[in-house]
Amino acid sequence: MSPWITHLGGKFIVFDGPDGSGKTTQFDRFAEHCRQAGLGVCEVREPGGTAFGEQIRRILLDPASPEMSVRCEMMLYMASRAQLVEQTIAPALQRGELVLADRFISSTLAYQGAAGGLSPEEILAVGRVAVQSSWPDLTVIFDVDQRVAGARLPDSPARDRMERRSPAFHARVRQGYLDQVEAQPEKYLLIAAAADPDSVFETLLNRLQERFT
Ligand code: TMP
Repeated sequence: MSPWITHLGGKFIVFDGPDGSGKTTQFDRFAEHCRQAGLGVCEVREPGGTAFGEQIRRILLDPASPEMSVRCEMMLYMASRAQLVEQTIAPALQRGELVLADRFISSTLAYQGAAGGLSPEEILAVGRVAVQSSWPDLTVIFDVDQRVAGARLPDSPARDRMERRSPAFHARVRQGYLDQVEAQPEKYLLIAAAADPDSVFETLLNRLQERFT
């Protein structure tokens, strides 16, 4: 096993970024890479990841869902998160596994905060209730501009409720992620993700190795 991978047991790492950033492809590859190296990995995704959370996910992403206020939306993402933390994330960390999450509170800060208009204080106040002591050790942000992101999204009719938001909304989401990285460089890692998946994966491994060696 690569020595730095052994340092990831009991750690909580989030992969996040705008829709179309390619984070989920990198997430799947990295989870497989860690497993092949012999590490116990707990993979979760948000919203969802539990039976109850997947029901909340359907409401949040269904384009046919009725209009909801941004506060209601934020609380639903947090409700899904509270269930996931208690049922899956905290126990896996206790067992010494690497927890890998596809999105976490950084998404709420970008989408309902920077783009939706809620303050970080409001989000973090609810976040403390949902997350308790299970905060990520590192949040990796995969950054792409809107031209690249748009080309990676499904065609319009297949887009979910969030993907259908305006280009201006998605520009604020991207900026919301960049601001989080700038504010807390020790807790975040920014990866330029416009290149082909193999090059992005190589960069990811190199940068993670620097952090965890
Ligand atoms: P996914 O397509 O990566 O599974 O993410 C689902 C969508 O939900 C995506 O458009 C981002 C959005 N989202 C929020 O708006 N707030 C959140 O807290 C989370 C976790 C996701």
